[in-house]
Amino acid sequence: MATATAPRKSTPAIKQTKHLINNEWVASSDGGKFETFNPATGEVIAEVSAGTAADIDRAVKAARRAVETGPWNKMDAADRGRLLFKLAELVDANAEELSMLESLNSGKTIGDSQGDIAGVANCLRYYAGWADKIEGRTVPVRGNFLSYTLRQPVGVVGQIIPWNFPCAMLAWKWGPALACGNAIVMKPAEQTPLTALIMGRLAMEAGFPAGVINLVNGMGETAGAALCTHPDVDKIAFTGHVDTAKIIQKATADTLKRTSYELGGKSPNVIFADANIDDAVEGAFHAIYFHGGQCCTAGSRLFVEEKLRDEFVEKLAKKAKGRRVGDPMDPATQQGPQVSQEQMDKILGYVALGQKQGAKLVTGGQRVGDRGFFVEPTIFDGVKDEMAIATDEIFGPVVSVLPFKNFDEMLERANRTHYGLAAAIWTKDIDKAHLYAKQVKAGTVWVNCYHVVDTTTPFGGFKMSGHGRENGEAALDLYTELKTVTVKLNP
Ligand code: NAI
Ligand code: MG
Repeated sequence: MATATAPRKSTPAIKQTKHLINNEWVASSDGGKFETFNPATGEVIAEVSAGTAADIDRAVKAARRAVETGPWNKMDAADRGRLLFKLAELVDANAEELSMLESLNSGKTIGDSQGDIAGVANCLRYYAGWADKIEGRTVPVRGNFLSYTLRQPVGVVGQIIPWNFPCAMLAWKWGPALACGNAIVMKPAEQTPLTALIMGRLAMEAGFPAGVINLVNGMGETAGAALCTHPDVDKIAFTGHVDTAKIIQKATADTLKRTSYELGGKSPNVIFADANIDDAVEGAFHAIYFHGGQCCTAGSRLFVEEKLRDEFVEKLAKKAKGRRVGDPMDPATQQGPQVSQEQMDKILGYVALGQKQGAKLVTGGQRVGDRGFFVEPTIFDGVKDEMAIATDEIFGPVVSVLPFKNFDEMLERANRTHYGLAAAIWTKDIDKAHLYAKQVKAGTVWVNCYHVVDTTTPFGGFKMSGHGRENGEAALDLYTELKTVTVKLNP
């Protein structure tokens, strides 16, 4: 049985709680604040300014000034790159503060937070390198003309991010937006507002001009919604729930903003009996339990070839029972709390529903302890494709084992979902691996590995898992407008 270790006292000083607008820390227009929690204890750790429509408007005006007038819009592209490089260096130099606060506020294990923060620096460095390589083309048009294309910033971009990878999601959105010369108004998740504010402090220290990066914390329904409907915001980039994306799609319709979405998933992780079984067990375990299942790419539908099923489930259950669930600040902990009471309740609700609908609970399914929001690593076997635990994104440490007999049947079932974010296959047979990679409908496919995400490779979803691709060169498309210039050449 998973055990809860006692939460330790560990409180990095919280220096910033206000909005960052025009390189100044400002309180909300109405003085409003909201509480943010330590999910390992349920205790309040800070009160943070709660953004209003007026705060969003102020931030958008600052961003508009930055993007229309100097120094930002006059700055050489190489100098934008230098600022991003500087910010990446400052992230490395402040990695301890950032990762401690990330773990305190989100419940991520300290090791995971350290990995995330190193990833933040890498992402910013990667896009720093892009800043002066965003090029147009000359186009061989008919007639006596010179035609060329320019790639220009979209303008003021609104960025709305979730709580599962607070700092990493910020970097994925800041990196390409800044490399391309946009100005940002970001609304971090209300569950995890704190590390973004440190990033704001570091951005000022790096030397980003006033108004280029603005941070307004607060609720989705108020601050987030005001950003989506603001007539002077050119684009919204969003990561979060499908239902929220639908609201945003409607909210941005009147102003026809550009939008990009990175949403959820119900990713099929497929194990063939010809795989290296120990690697596959390890991989399936990591696929679902990494960050307590709070990953958009979580391998939550575990397709196991029927003849391997009993052995595989037994091995997976043994590992699940031995997982150390507890204080995220303790380096020995393998799984911290879920981010909030709401998320814990949602997960436990799905466990109850799975049992009610007739799936077999192999292990887990309980809250761990009575303090904080911990949930046991959970396995359901005998799951039918149409059960809620097999169709819905649970966003917790709950895996559904779905046995299959042959490739074609598995593929049809793997694709029978409105999601399409990630997929994986474990096999030594290269034909099966490549046929699956080609035919599965997902933006990312892993062969004999899982959760390998790198800032250099495009990331995003098919179907209702999203629009557009973040990371890699692809993200530059999200943050540039393409302009055609045609010049008459008089001979
Ligand atoms: P959410 O989609 O409500 O929140 C994500 C962000 O959107 C937050 O910053 C939130 O304040 C903002 N937001 C919410 N309503 C908004 C609105 N009307 N207009 C503008 N912005 C708005 O997700 P939530 O409620 O935190 O989590 C619910 C579920 O969403 C999770 O259980 C999980 O299934 C899924 N989720 C998926 C994520 C992913 O990485 N794809 C990340 C977080 C949650
Ligand atoms: Mg929500």
